[in-house]
Amino acid sequence: MTGPAIAAHGLRKSYGDKTVLDGVDLTVAEGTVFSLLGPNGAGKTTAVKILSTLISPDPASGRISVGGHDLAADPQAVRAAIGVTGQFSAVDGLITGAENMLLMADLHHLPRREGRRVTAELLERFDLTEAAAKPASTYSGGMRRRLDIAMTLVGSPRIIFLDEPTTGLDPRSRHNMWQIIRELVTDGVTVFLTTQYLDEADELADRIAVLHNGTIAAEGTAAELKRLVPGGHVRLRFTDPAAHRAAASALREATRDDEALTLQIASAGSQRELRLLLDRLDTAGIEADELTVHTPDLDDVFFALTGPTRPAGIPDQPQETAR
Ligand SMILES: Nc1ncnc2c1ncn2[C@@H]1O[C@H](COP(=O)(O)OP(=O)(O)O)[C@@H](O)[C@H]1O
Ligand SMILES: [Mg+2]
Repeated sequence: MTGPAIAAHGLRKSYGDKTVLDGVDLTVAEGTVFSLLGPNGAGKTTAVKILSTLISPDPASGRISVGGHDLAADPQAVRAAIGVTGQFSAVDGLITGAENMLLMADLHHLPRREGRRVTAELLERFDLTEAAAKPASTYSGGMRRRLDIAMTLVGSPRIIFLDEPTTGLDPRSRHNMWQIIRELVTDGVTVFLTTQYLDEADELADRIAVLHNGTIAAEGTAAELKRLVPGGHVRLRFTDPAAHRAAASALREATRDDEALTLQIASAGSQRELRLLLDRLDTAGIEADELTVHTPDLDDVFFALTGPTRPAGIPDQPQETAR
């Protein structure tokens, strides 16, 4: 295959008068992880379904090629090159893990023996050997996802689509899944990963595209995206409202939050800037209960791109804490 693993130009899809994808351009280099990032309803699954030939794009879309094959002209060739792990599990709970795997081997027309060999190998690799003879309905969420990916790998796809592979998983299973994805890439597989989680994209993806209002709001490496937003800030937190008030009048330029009892001061977080700030606080006799330095993260990029304010309930993560 020459050229990118996936190239889509002007990807469009509407349902009735609702436009879901409004001209999306995507290029995914072979052997890399590409993350399509967006909140619920952004159109991630729609994009995956189109690129994996499960649904058709609108006729106004441009050329789409996957695995070097034209999606419209040769969908069969595309299907042979890819594997898809959908957002909702393809695992049949009524049969065992091993039976689910063998079913996939049959679908890929693997000879019996080969099918059993591949199945045993993958079950081992995904730590499912012990559970292989149990009905999949008894599996935990993490085990089910692992089985789902193992099933996807039966056909040895060179490109795999993982649609929100970690949504709903506990932290340990999530880290397990990240490890699995890294190993896929080590084997040279191209991974198209959708996620709602910025840290996941930051952790895994070579390139990230932010899907917003049907188009790609920004695309690049995590570092490139972080450069899109202005520098970081220092946050001071108080427990005493009077101390908070006094600090606010000493640091006029700070943004104050009277409910959280915090002050936020724009700062790149350099040693020099911090020393100046600490000197000012000392001079004014102010002692904050907590001081945190924030450098911009993907959250900042995401909210800068997709809306004016950070929704409630999404904490910003301190990068360093000094008390
Ligand atoms: N078959 C369909 N018919 C009508 N609307 C749909 C259909 N599939 C998806 N949508 C709508 O398209 C939007 C994007 O959906 P989806 O691609 O599933 O988003 P995501 O995977 O990012 O959560 C949603 O508003 C959803 O309701
Ligand atoms: Mg989805």
